Amino acid sequence: HYMLKEIYEQPKAITNTLEGRLGTDHVVVESFGNGARAIFDQVEHVQIVACGTSYNSGMVARYWFEEIAGVSCDVEIASEFRYRKSVVRPNSLLVTLSQSGETADTLAALRLAKESGYMSSLAICNVPGSSLVRESDLAFMTRAGAEIGVASTKAFTTQLAGLLMLVASVGHCRGHLSAAAEAELVKALQALPLRIKESLALAKDIEALAEEFADKHHSLFLGRGSQYPIAMEGALKLKEISYIHAEGYPAGEMKHGPIALIDERMPVVAIAPHDHVFEKMQGNIQEAKARGGAVIAITTAGDDTLWRLP
Ligand code: F6R
Repeated sequence: HYMLKEIYEQPKAITNTLEGRLGTDHVVVESFGNGARAIFDQVEHVQIVACGTSYNSGMVARYWFEEIAGVSCDVEIASEFRYRKSVVRPNSLLVTLSQSGETADTLAALRLAKESGYMSSLAICNVPGSSLVRESDLAFMTRAGAEIGVASTKAFTTQLAGLLMLVASVGHCRGHLSAAAEAELVKALQALPLRIKESLALAKDIEALAEEFADKHHSLFLGRGSQYPIAMEGALKLKEISYIHAEGYPAGEMKHGPIALIDERMPVVAIAPHDHVFEKMQGNIQEAKARGGAVIAITTAGDDTLWRLP
């Protein structure tokens, strides 16, 4: 079916997103439009607005903006943003994220922002000529190709690639990102299609896990840091496609309520790569196991720490 086809198209889709937009050691700032450099030089705050999966990719970018580019960033669901009064900070850039470029709430948020004092607007979008692209000052096309499956898959990962390029460009223009750090990011971006191919090669193992999951009615997806929105996205996908109730949570919040729900009938999916909060995630996984929860952990290849947890 189309969704599976589109999942497997990700290496090619991301190759297309990167095409012509990376130098040997830097991101080409003009990939975001001719006027992008002048705007990125001055930007002091980024406001991201989107819906659904696109919102989740924006949430990942928030961690990146503040850590990598040193620029403050807020992310809001478009249907909330458009119906409330918000204060616009000086030199704020509005970034809208959308696969289709026609989502009514995101479009309304852009139109509102244009009258509210934002210095500029940038759309990261998959459909050239869409309303969002036409009405924004700057645009970055994700080039994922047509997404026909109802669930956003390659649109999400190409958005993330585009957002990391945006963060690198803003960090560069603001003088916050060192040349060496930018070169590392470029290398990481170039490695993405291969990394995704490696993940897709795990399909048989993942299918086996899915068999165990299929008869459950509830599940919890946990992550910390930039993996927290990835957990939310996992939960959204499961709800939408499997009709299994799923919650995405920051793992540190587990003890403030949802832990009460964990037992052998409730699978817990922990996104736990070997990063700066890995030890904290290990603690959360142990808590879930102590409650009898069946934990499915997604971790860094070659790291067997989680297997050895009591
Ligand atoms: C989830 C999904 C939706 C969309 C949302 C926004 O798989 O597809 O949550 O992400 O409707 O759509 P776009 O990105 O077109 O604005």
